[in-house]
Amino acid sequence: MNSHLNDILNKSSLTKADIVYLLKLNNPSDLDLLFQQAVNIRNEYCGAKVFFRGLIEISNICRKNCLYCGIRIENKAIVRYDISEKEIIDTAFSAWDNGLASIVLQSGERTDKVFIHKIIRCLQAISDYTQHKMRITLSLGEQKKETYKLWKEAGADAYLLRIETSDSDLFRKIHPDNRLHRFEDRLRALEHLKEIGFQVGTGVMIGLPFQSIESLADDLIFIQNLDADMAGMGPYLEHQETPLFLWRNHLTDVNERLLLTLKMYAILRILMKDINIASTTATDAISSSGRLKGILAGANVIMPDITPEKYLGKYTIYPNKPVSKLTLRKVLEKAETMVKTSGCEPVLADRGDPVHYLLKSL
Ligand code: 5AD
Ligand code: SF4
Repeated sequence: MNSHLNDILNKSSLTKADIVYLLKLNNPSDLDLLFQQAVNIRNEYCGAKVFFRGLIEISNICRKNCLYCGIRIENKAIVRYDISEKEIIDTAFSAWDNGLASIVLQSGERTDKVFIHKIIRCLQAISDYTQHKMRITLSLGEQKKETYKLWKEAGADAYLLRIETSDSDLFRKIHPDNRLHRFEDRLRALEHLKEIGFQVGTGVMIGLPFQSIESLADDLIFIQNLDADMAGMGPYLEHQETPLFLWRNHLTDVNERLLLTLKMYAILRILMKDINIASTTATDAISSSGRLKGILAGANVIMPDITPEKYLGKYTIYPNKPVSKLTLRKVLEKAETMVKTSGCEPVLADRGDPVHYLLKSL
């Protein structure tokens, strides 16, 4: 029996030192205790449920050049694609017709008018078809406040924008030093999203070169101070066609990064009991049961990829991204079976808005 661990798990709020202690746990029985506590809290505050989000990766065109990402503008080794408005809308309709009440539109960052208005028309069409009942999340990068407003008015409910790391020095190390990649701008964008009334999600990459355990503890405190409604965090996976690949010798083993990711999920659940936490696809790139492990560490959202088949496998932000050439129905059935093995109920037909957001807006 680890009495220090028990003391921490019984506290009503955690200090940074407590979080660092939890992130360093390694003994299997200690880890079991941490994960079980996170699961109990999730079940009490959010229900023993896992909400489904159909993820449509609408384009891998990006204006940015993040040093870690496989779809950065300077990676000439990939084929770029941009799904047509009709295909996006048809995919969303088909998700709705298959019983999915929540989707995510994700792409590289574009800020031109053509793109902004294409998104507006997609949002309007999906909202009309589903009588505003489908929950639409956007993950389209940093935009002007005005653009966020237009998208909210057109029917978007939630927005995911990762801070990537809350450590401004580390942020500078993993991004080019130019006006497109400013830590302060990312912070401002998150504030704008909150002001507009979006359900806001953020998150970080875990296991980056030069990233310390203390820095990860600060990331969790950052997410808490932002009062985020949702979190999406995943292991960093080095991509050969990116500058950060040079630092691969500084990385820990991928399984270490996966374990650290699971600890981040569990600790965030303890810190923020009623938010939505995604068990992200990057965990599945390390272990075929990565997402399942995430659910068993307190996550309550999964995002099955429902991108149309001809574009599947082209959104290569990191290597070995799992793709499944199954039909939409089969993708959902497979994910439902996986969720059931965790003891949670798979929820497709519910919007699954974060309890945290619903309580704030009362
Ligand atoms: N490994 C893991 N995650 C990555 N992302 C980008 N590149 C990588 C990588 N090499 C994540 C970032 C970004 C999201 C779209 O994908 O966190 O916000
Ligand atoms: Fe573009 Fe996002 Fe990749 Fe950066 S992380 S290059 S903004 S898709």
